[in-house]
Amino acid sequence: GDNVMMLAQNHDVDIEGACEASLACCTCHVYVEDPYFERLDEADMKEEDLLDMAPFLAENSRLSCQIV
Ligand code: FES
Repeated sequence: GDNVMMLAQNHDVDIEGACEASLACCTCHVYVEDPYFERLDEADMKEEDLLDMAPFLAENSRLSCQIV
């Protein structure tokens, strides 16, 4: 199925997504606003590790290719 990154790209949102959802970059970084952030499954360890390398990391940061 589609993830949020693909949906955004399909709607002309400028998200790079360099690794094409293979969890090897952080160029699909997004901020998820309330109340949606709480509704997501928590990021797994690999996503967390990549998020640690993302510029401007915030409490509500996620990798959009991992949001399904
Ligand atoms: Fe690379 Fe999401 S596109 S981790």
